[in-house]
Amino acid sequence: MPLQVYDIIKKKREGETLSRREINYLIQRYSTGDLPDYQMAAWAMAVYFRGLNEKETVWLTGAMADSGQRMDLSSLPGIVVDKHSTGGVGDTTTLVLLPLVAAAGIPAAKMSGRGLGHTGGTVDKLEAIPGFKVEMSRSDFLTQVKKIGVAVVAQTPELAPVDKKLYALRDVTATVESLPLIASSIMSKKIAGGASGLVLDVKVGRGAFMKDKKQAEKLARLMVKIGEESGLKTRAVLSAMNQPLGFAVGNSLEVIEAFQTLKGQGPADLEKLCLTLGSCMLQLAGKEGTYKQHYSHLQDVLHSGQALEKMRQLIEEQKGDPRVIDNYNMFPEARYSREVKSRHCGYAADLDALKIGNLARKLGAGRSEKGEQIDPAAGIVLQRKRGDRLQKGELLARLYTSDPELLEESADFCREAFRIKKEKPQAEKLVYKMINSSE
Ligand code: URA
Ligand code: CA
Repeated sequence: MPLQVYDIIKKKREGETLSRREINYLIQRYSTGDLPDYQMAAWAMAVYFRGLNEKETVWLTGAMADSGQRMDLSSLPGIVVDKHSTGGVGDTTTLVLLPLVAAAGIPAAKMSGRGLGHTGGTVDKLEAIPGFKVEMSRSDFLTQVKKIGVAVVAQTPELAPVDKKLYALRDVTATVESLPLIASSIMSKKIAGGASGLVLDVKVGRGAFMKDKKQAEKLARLMVKIGEESGLKTRAVLSAMNQPLGFAVGNSLEVIEAFQTLKGQGPADLEKLCLTLGSCMLQLAGKEGTYKQHYSHLQDVLHSGQALEKMRQLIEEQKGDPRVIDNYNMFPEARYSREVKSRHCGYAADLDALKIGNLARKLGAGRSEKGEQIDPAAGIVLQRKRGDRLQKGELLARLYTSDPELLEESADFCREAFRIKKEKPQAEKLVYKMINSSE
């Protein structure tokens, strides 16, 4: 019997389970433009309320992954392991992690995105490096990975193209916040990306997409399950995103922070997260040894300067000027800066990542709409973080922008992101949990 979209929508509305054929039919028709947005939106809303079981979610992911080309990375030596973050504030891990694992002998072939909303994107950060090119042909990309073990390109729109269309629809129909839809959206792009392993950094907290630990864990387990069922070995790390990672938020500022980390002088939280994610990547790549051994090996690779050297090669290979590593003055400079000082004494009981992320965006580091220009020099360098003792008049942060009119109001906004209390707050974990299988 020929399938009817109406029946598929109704079936899901009634909470029944869809067949693989029905899901494929829906996604294929939507992908070719034969299915109107209103029917897809009705289906997405039915899924929002009724959910999808694991099988349906795996099928949906596969159908979306097959809506475009899949990358073929089979010509690369070794096992290619990808990394994905659900998005954070001041999260510079990719810039450290890629040269780090590459220096440890694991090929790093990465497709990255731009920032949107209050979170940053790796592509924007790399473009802050003078001359750095994030566009290259597929064959140049593979050639570079073979040559130096690492390459980063802007994610092509050909990967799981139907996801883009569906996401835009969900965005305007209040159907983004559905775990199976989020999980299939993320995983379809990763599966189409062609890696054999995937480490997910699922951020939890105020500055993250997932605000709640339980929900984040559910999402992580679901994505690990989809990976397992789809031939992509997947691990997830649940990490804290209540306050920004490291001190720098903004594109060139974060690149500098990544360089500092590669020099062994980075913020402790950023270094720890990079070593954690990197160790998982080494495990998935089949490198012999225990997690602990990988961790200490990567510590050596980082602190011996090998990862920094790999970063130098990466910049050179992608037409950037590697002298920036030793001369931060080569980065574009913000026209205006302002110090933000504390008006109270006590402890920084909290530092709101969402507020800081939004402030950095306002200062010019991010976009409010797709395609907007960003200012690579804009952003915030925090001087204090959660748990730090503060004196009245002490420096909390420095703001950088090219719009002087923003400075006054931004300073107030920045102060508001710090909640100052008499008592020292309890330490917060950086890594909540590691999920190695869907069990
Ligand atoms: N990120 C994605 O790529 N898709 C979603 O649905 C949510 C976050
Ligand atoms: Ca940072």
